[in-house]
Amino acid sequence: MKRNARIALLVLLAAGLWLALKPTLGNRRFTFLPFRWSEYFDLMDFWLNLGAFAMLGMTVWLAFGTLEKAFSRLWMMTGGITLLNILLELVQSSIPGRAMDMADVWAGLIGCVGGIGCGMVLQLFSIGKKSGGKEPQVLFLDQTGRLGGAELMLLDIAAARAADSEVILFHDGEFRTALENAGVKTTVQRLSEEASTVDKQAGLKSVLRSLPGILQLMLRIVQAARSFDVVYANTAKALIIGGPAARLAGRPLIFHLHDIIADGHFSLLNQQALVHCANFCAQSVIANSEATKDAFIACGGRAELCVVIPNGFRIPTERTAATQVSSLRASLGIPPQAWTVLMAGRLAHWKGQHVLLEALKAVPAAHAILLGDALFTDEDREYARGLHAQAEAPELAGRVHFAGFQKETMPYFDLADAVVHASVHPEPFGRVIVEGMLACKPVIAARAGGAAEIVQHEQTGLLVAPGSAGELAEALLRLKNEPSLACDIAQRAQQMAQDIYALNAVQEKIEAVIRQTASRELSQETETAANQPLQQVA
Ligand code: UDP
Ligand code: GLC
Repeated sequence: MKRNARIALLVLLAAGLWLALKPTLGNRRFTFLPFRWSEYFDLMDFWLNLGAFAMLGMTVWLAFGTLEKAFSRLWMMTGGITLLNILLELVQSSIPGRAMDMADVWAGLIGCVGGIGCGMVLQLFSIGKKSGGKEPQVLFLDQTGRLGGAELMLLDIAAARAADSEVILFHDGEFRTALENAGVKTTVQRLSEEASTVDKQAGLKSVLRSLPGILQLMLRIVQAARSFDVVYANTAKALIIGGPAARLAGRPLIFHLHDIIADGHFSLLNQQALVHCANFCAQSVIANSEATKDAFIACGGRAELCVVIPNGFRIPTERTAATQVSSLRASLGIPPQAWTVLMAGRLAHWKGQHVLLEALKAVPAAHAILLGDALFTDEDREYARGLHAQAEAPELAGRVHFAGFQKETMPYFDLADAVVHASVHPEPFGRVIVEGMLACKPVIAARAGGAAEIVQHEQTGLLVAPGSAGELAEALLRLKNEPSLACDIAQRAQQMAQDIYALNAVQEKIEAVIRQTASRELSQETETAANQPLQQVA
């Protein structure tokens, strides 16, 4: 294709030159014709120029343009061709009786941009074919290279269908390494700096600034998506960029909703953008809890798109050896018999680590491990610094242990006497709660969102009011002082977690959604899809 395009380019260059120079060689003004005719021919000249430059632009794009660097190439080529056009006009204007004709320059510019646009469209639709294979081919999209809960879930989903999947990340990081180690083909398509800094609370100004970067990445995803049967957006930015891209590429989209779309988590603008994008672009929305689904619908999301599938977990057959637990204790500086509570997860204000530190003051001699790091934003890093300062308080001295982010978390769960979840905003799901249960540890969780769906108060854990250090301290004291209660709760919870959250069963449900979505024809437009609820995934 490139070779033919280059030959066509030469022919067109010659034609373009002829068209551009023609008025100087012939009698441009057609003085022998009535005035109106002359105008008519001038007009025709304008259109001929426009057409010639459109062809020129399209051919140059097909010969040298690449969607990888769509925007820089677009400016370069338009600039180059327009410069050539102006030079030609200048040459003509040096001929006696000929003046510089700006109309021709404009015609060339408009034609060139239009032609390049057509070239891009042609390029987009001439590449990539649907697989036609047995298993649906899935292109997963995720905005981060860090390992948050949403990424850990995607890691398991993609690893189980590595032969039929690829992942595109918008940032590099340990997530890419983990995916590649699991045999999943992964590429990093970097999002521009401006677009990366748009966070969940972003307003209109920063969104507008990020547009060029977003459009560029979108084009690359359209190109990639055409080789797959389904596009699967795993995060909010992946939906905003991947949703329209999937539509342009003519591929159905699954949105895995890991977030509660509501105040406290997203700005109003972002809430609306997410929900409308999901409504318009997604054929299926997988919500990680009822709370997540309800918030989506309350915000205007289409209920018939939604199916609730919780996170799934490998059920460990072996736990950490006692000697390893003891040496971990020693390395953290925790005395051998000290009653210890674990809080695992990224350090962020809404995760409520500060609430645990406050509560710990009222639980004498208890130690706390904070496992995790500030993963995503500057505010998180600022918050982490604040936590270190908070832990310096005399009542807490030596009792708070920052373990940082660890890939291998099981030893920390096995070390703990209890696991705490303390999010001050509703938790969408809360993987750490289930992980605590699977480790057979009594869990205290904040009564809101997905956490309140996982924990049955007094049966499979203790629920406390979000943000209440007082209630948390009471619950901690109960577990510390009543080991038999702690043990009963932990055992019941472990059984329940093994029954409900086993990875295999969850993977099957997600596969069912993938198959169902892949088999949907995109030609059925939004209205039709609205009348066809996603079949309940049993
Ligand atoms: N996690 C981890 N290493 C750490 C801290 C946490 O691998 O040092 C894991 C944790 O085990 C859990 C996930 O990160 O699987 C956090 O998921 P969760 O749903 O609790 O919260 P999120 O951070 O996704 O909001
Ligand atoms: C998100 C949510 C968390 C959930 C995880 C996996 O990171 O914040 O609550 O457990 O996704 O679905």
